[in-house]
Amino acid sequence: MSKILLCVTGGVAAYKVVELASLMRKRGDDVRILMTESAIRFVSPLTFSAVGNFPVYTDAFDVSNGTILHTNLSSWGDILIVAPMTANTAAKIANGMADNLVTMTTLAFTGPKIGVPSMNVRMYENPITAENLSKLSKSGWHIVEPESGHLADGERGRGRYPDNEKILFEIDTVLGPNDFKGLNVLVSAGPTIEPIDPVRYITNRSSGKMGYEIARAAKIRGANVALISGPVNLPVPYGVDGEFVQTADEMKNAILRRLSWSNIVIMAAAVADYKPSKALSQKLKKHANEINLHMVKNVDILEEISKIRRDDQFIVGFAAETENLMENSRHKMKSKKLDMIVANDVSHSDIGFGSDYNEVTIFCKDDNVIRIGRNKKSYVAHNILDIIKSHRVKLA
Ligand code: PMT
Repeated sequence: MSKILLCVTGGVAAYKVVELASLMRKRGDDVRILMTESAIRFVSPLTFSAVGNFPVYTDAFDVSNGTILHTNLSSWGDILIVAPMTANTAAKIANGMADNLVTMTTLAFTGPKIGVPSMNVRMYENPITAENLSKLSKSGWHIVEPESGHLADGERGRGRYPDNEKILFEIDTVLGPNDFKGLNVLVSAGPTIEPIDPVRYITNRSSGKMGYEIARAAKIRGANVALISGPVNLPVPYGVDGEFVQTADEMKNAILRRLSWSNIVIMAAAVADYKPSKALSQKLKKHANEINLHMVKNVDILEEISKIRRDDQFIVGFAAETENLMENSRHKMKSKKLDMIVANDVSHSDIGFGSDYNEVTIFCKDDNVIRIGRNKKSYVAHNILDIIKSHRVKLA
């Protein structure tokens, strides 16, 4: 949970910042909203207050709670964001002006600052705006570049407000420890699907959430991340190199192709253990009352990795168990020659497959056993990375 000063200035994209505030609330961030006079003409302070239950400040000279607002707010936040950042506000901040609550607070704030410029393309491309934004970057501001496309006024070009997920990713990256910088992390996620015929297949309940959260966490912490994913309904996290596969064989090929590049491999995918011995080329007709499906064993990707891995690589498996969690997980760790295995009990519907939550026990090669209680998969992902980090150093 971060303490965020969210400064809204007067651009048409102000309405999109309402969703940003709402997403921050869902994540549990503590937010104070500051609005300029022009921002209020686009969106009412009441709307911001209603979506997040956050305090909204508009008047720099409001002393009703006995404090000087801009000095008080500027010493409270972990991070300050100006979204949308208009050309006018960018110009004022770049030139040290302090004529409203946003610019006064910004000038007094000493922590990390993010600007999200969004405006008409000709205003954005004006050399004066470009110079102001470059001045902000040089003085330490993190500028989230606007996107190209249709603009609110009907023109096309660069200046569009970016996706709010991108802004949240930027916040987490700026506030993150950057402790995986320079490391190449290969993550697998989601199910595989094994075709029976052109319209039917065998799969499992993996949603990909656990693996995607690990990929996202590693990226936020500075790693180069490749994500090999089975079919899921999730967006690839910002900055992550995603590759989609269907079958276990395709996942094996994609993983082995990137293995030598990787410093760390984390296999969170639920790879099908068996596949139909032959995928039919035509749709299976409904005639017989009973049919038998002949299945053969799929290749075990982690076992393939263990044959060719280097000693300096750190290989992490997952164990999805419904019984004898400890015994089965330890056995998998040894037989697949892993450095660590993350075990989850998948017999509970409120953790593991499909859930936003997980509860895991981590078994390490040095016999260390660490339990992470039920928590959001994003939290569990960061904890797994913390443990990988400490054990990589220990085993190196
Ligand atoms: O995707 P979610 O809905 O978020 O759910 C997360 C999860 C429950 C899928 C995840 O936390 C998890 O447990 N992933 C591993 C699932 C699994 O296949 O477990 P397993 O015990 O059958 O396999 C052990 C390990 O071998 C796994 O790392 C697996 O990726 C790997 N494996 C399995 C089969 C195979 N042919 N090749 C493999 O490499």
